[in-house]
Amino acid sequence: MADKGIRIEGLTKRYGKGDTAVDALKGVNMTVAPGEVVGLIGPSGSGKSTLLKCLGAVIDPTAGRMMLGDDVIFEDRWIRRDLRALRRDKIGFVFQAPYLIPFLEVIDNVALLPMLAGVPNDEARERALELLAALDVQHRARAMPSQLSGGEQQRVAIARGLVNRPPVILADEPTAPLDSKRALAVIRILNDMAKRFETAIIVVTHDEKIIPTFKRIYHIRDGVTYEEAGEGRGFD
Ligand SMILES: Nc1ncnc2c1ncn2[C@@H]1O[C@H](COP(=O)(O)OP(=O)(O)O)[C@@H](O)[C@H]1O
Ligand SMILES: [Mg+2]
Repeated sequence: MADKGIRIEGLTKRYGKGDTAVDALKGVNMTVAPGEVVGLIGPSGSGKSTLLKCLGAVIDPTAGRMMLGDDVIFEDRWIRRDLRALRRDKIGFVFQAPYLIPFLEVIDNVALLPMLAGVPNDEARERALELLAALDVQHRARAMPSQLSGGEQQRVAIARGLVNRPPVILADEPTAPLDSKRALAVIRILNDMAKRFETAIIVVTHDEKIIPTFKRIYHIRDGVTYEEAGEGRGFD
């Protein structure tokens, strides 16, 4: 279980140089245990997306340390060499916008990643269908993305983020376009995934509907994080 759980220590990120430099992260500390879902809350511009992009190896942090389980992936520079494999195999992303591939049926939008990772096509589609069913969009499996409502597209995007069973899931406002019942269903699925596969999950959100579900919340302000116990008891 070498790659389970997240530990971030003293992480900084400076965009640009000289007079126009922006210090977006100023020493972030965060831990997420295997099987845990934490909330990340902060005002616009506080560094939430920057933090997820650093952890997801989409941008380069400036300094500090990031670990997946026992593996140090970044310590003032990338220690882990193959960042493409890191993103593909270890990190599931769920973004605000669904970014589905318009010319693939819903089921193949979800099944594509495991297929690319070498899972046989039938098994990849089976896994995709199982998640689509859990997210209550299996009846749309053979539709094209443009035929779906915004909320349906977002649930498909969530299925795609989960389908490779990565040890880390990074979700940036995943429930923003969903109604209350569906938003809670998504959080329930994230909690189930976390438990079943020992996934460490960070959910950036302002969504008042789901904030009460978190057991632990990190607040971020001006690039610095503060931890607090949430009111939530999760879904035990
Ligand atoms: N590519 C970039 N170049 C320069 N500054 C950026 C860039 N991306 C974000 N920032 C700045 O970094 C800070 C944090 O941004 P961001 O991480 O997007 O915040 P949040 O997601 O919490 O709204 C903001 O001041 C923002 O303007
Ligand atoms: Mg953001």
